[in-house]
Amino acid sequence: MTPASLRDALARVPSLPLAPQPTPVEPMRRLAAAIVAGGGPRLLVKRDDAIAFGFGGNKVRKLAFVAARAQAEGADTLITAGGVQSNHARATAATAAKLGMRAVLVANGTAPEKPTANALLDALLGAEVVYVKTRDERAPKMREIADRLRADGGRPFEIPIGASTPLGALGYVQAVVELLDQIPAPDVIVHATSSAGTQAGLVAACRLLDLPTRIIGISADDPAASIQTQVRTIVQGIG
Ligand SMILES: Cc1ncc(COP(=O)(O)O)c(C=O)c1O
Repeated sequence: MTPASLRDALARVPSLPLAPQPTPVEPMRRLAAAIVAGGGPRLLVKRDDAIAFGFGGNKVRKLAFVAARAQAEGADTLITAGGVQSNHARATAATAAKLGMRAVLVANGTAPEKPTANALLDALLGAEVVYVKTRDERAPKMREIADRLRADGGRPFEIPIGASTPLGALGYVQAVVELLDQIPAPDVIVHATSSAGTQAGLVAACRLLDLPTRIIGISADDPAASIQTQVRTIVQGIG
């Protein structure tokens, strides 16, 4: 597949224009020099942190696809989960607010006495937050809330942690196509990984385009083996 044909294929999948593209690619000369004195590897950063919508970050690219499906299905509420300070939950709250939907966030942890950072933004964005004690309780609680809303005549749409579904991962397939318009295929892409959707999108794009690029995810939490399994499952789902 070529970048142009992949771009055409992606354009046929509905997505919301949440982030103006492309995000900038900038050199990190001082970091490169600090790694290898006198001039190290060519290091670049793709500034997805500069995505303005919902305070940016990688979740916006995934939610652009996932929320488009929620909207197409006539959803009135987005339900998702994460930690109390989850970036994904905050980006989902912003997406729901933009689309005129309710947001219900299932957060594992303790309700802060005085919300700060993402928890404060969630509140300002009008999201309802339901607290559970452990990570394992999040998915059942989401299901329970969705069932209750449905029974009350609502149209909830559940977004798994990180919007890391095959559909959400298309956000990072698209990011690679975007990157190739900016620079030649890099030797390595290093990125933070957790719920595996970002990594799955990057891996799938490199495979579809037969790029020599290695993808190295730095896990924020789970062990490498479980993230690898998750990446494989999502890549297979992309098909
Ligand atoms: C800023 C940031 N980068 C990367 C990641 C990892 O992305 P993913 O959940 O798609 O693996 C996260 C999520 O935890 C994040 O908040």
